[in-house]
Amino acid sequence: MTFMPKNPQAGLDRILTLELVRVTERAAVAAARLRGRGDEKAADQAAVDAMRSELNRLPIRGTVVIGEGERDEAPMLYIGEEVGVGEGPEVDIALDPLEGTTICAKNLPNALAVIAIAERGSLLYAPDVYMEKIAIGPGYPEGIVDLDAPPAENIENLAKAKGVPVREITACILDRPRHARLVEAVRATGAAIRLIGDGDVAGVIHTTNPDETGIDIYMGIGGAPEGVLAAAALRCIGGQMQGRLQLNTEEKVARAAKMGISDPKKVYRMEEMASGDVLFAATGVTDGNLLSGVRFARDSIHTHTIVMRSSSRTVREIKAQHQDLDKF
Ligand code: FBP
Repeated sequence: MTFMPKNPQAGLDRILTLELVRVTERAAVAAARLRGRGDEKAADQAAVDAMRSELNRLPIRGTVVIGEGERDEAPMLYIGEEVGVGEGPEVDIALDPLEGTTICAKNLPNALAVIAIAERGSLLYAPDVYMEKIAIGPGYPEGIVDLDAPPAENIENLAKAKGVPVREITACILDRPRHARLVEAVRATGAAIRLIGDGDVAGVIHTTNPDETGIDIYMGIGGAPEGVLAAAALRCIGGQMQGRLQLNTEEKVARAAKMGISDPKKVYRMEEMASGDVLFAATGVTDGNLLSGVRFARDSIHTHTIVMRSSSRTVREIKAQHQDLDKF
């Protein structure tokens, strides 16, 4: 019997939420087999293959809008690739089968397998360029941080809204030379910085639970695809995020224009990067602040996934024990 949602107009079929978990679990397990081997490409390829084969079992008519790259540069899960069994709701898909390829290759914290599914037309079609981002978790008044405000102002506003001194705020920033001035400006406020080597989807998600992760705000420039994925996650949990594509060459402006972006300097709010009903899932590949990595036991494989849906704001954590090892 085919499952039919009670009201097909009310967003995506809720059963898809659980189907998504299988997709990121498979990708995470495939990547985790290659954890710590120093081979980014092999781990990424394994995750891509696993995610693609699982996606193609889903009852959807899906189009990858954020994927492994533009069609001519990615053999699989490229932007525009159609996935799913070809029946069911028409959805847009943003994915990163292995977010943090270097983290996985070095077996460091916070590598994830990530996917977001949304109603057709509700994810930002972003080219694979950089994006300047700022994000905080839920529970703050709208507008207390702003991409165009000086870093010190954002940190001070956040501290005031949290009701703590600035020195109790921690910002997460990618450890890159391009962030030297940002790091200096944040340190000058007295706030702490968690510098991460890679993995800013996790960096943004970590702002949603500062008590667990120790991170209050994400700032800086990372990948635009990762920006859309992070915005999808925040739409489900709550929080605020803004992003601006770094379209600093004619070629990038032209690529973005082809994807429908006419204002290269536009600041996108979270709701503009991921609108409508959004489902998001991430499975830990390596151990991290919010998710454990895949654990291989003698007779079973253990995975830890977070899965959420924007329309209900339900956030589930699924710890799975897989015993049918032939499937992996
Ligand atoms: P990959 O998984 O593609 O290696 O991306 C890791 C990552 O750290 C992202 O989380 C981040 O958005 C981006 O790379 C930053 O790019 P760069 O390494 O060029 O600064």
